[in-house]
Amino acid sequence: MDTNWTAVAALRDLGRRTKLRVEVGATAIALFQANGRIYAFRDLCIHADRSLTKGTILHGRVICPGHQWAFDLESGYEEDQDLCQPTYPVTVADDVIYVDLTPRTVVASEREQALS
Ligand code: FES
Repeated sequence: MDTNWTAVAALRDLGRRTKLRVEVGATAIALFQANGRIYAFRDLCIHADRSLTKGTILHGRVICPGHQWAFDLESGYEEDQDLCQPTYPVTVADDVIYVDLTPRTVVASEREQALS
């Protein structure tokens, strides 16, 4: 997979927080910290554009503050709606968080492979 890594924050900006909203150009990104990892989601919910950074992390999911859709941290998949919130690959190097801004959504075939 080609990557287009962009520095979005220093690790110290996230610190012990579980979430941080960053902007890269016109793109708002929600960074979440859970399970010893960092995840990046498009901040605006696919349902009605509420900020996921204002949501809650619960049982491996990001709960949107708008209407409580629950997006899987790993894939962005919302099971009840059968929809995906765009997510972005994340890497950390030299205490800097990098995100590949190419949105990633899991297609059904990938999801079926992951579940098998
Ligand atoms: S705005 Fe996110 S669930 Fe409605």
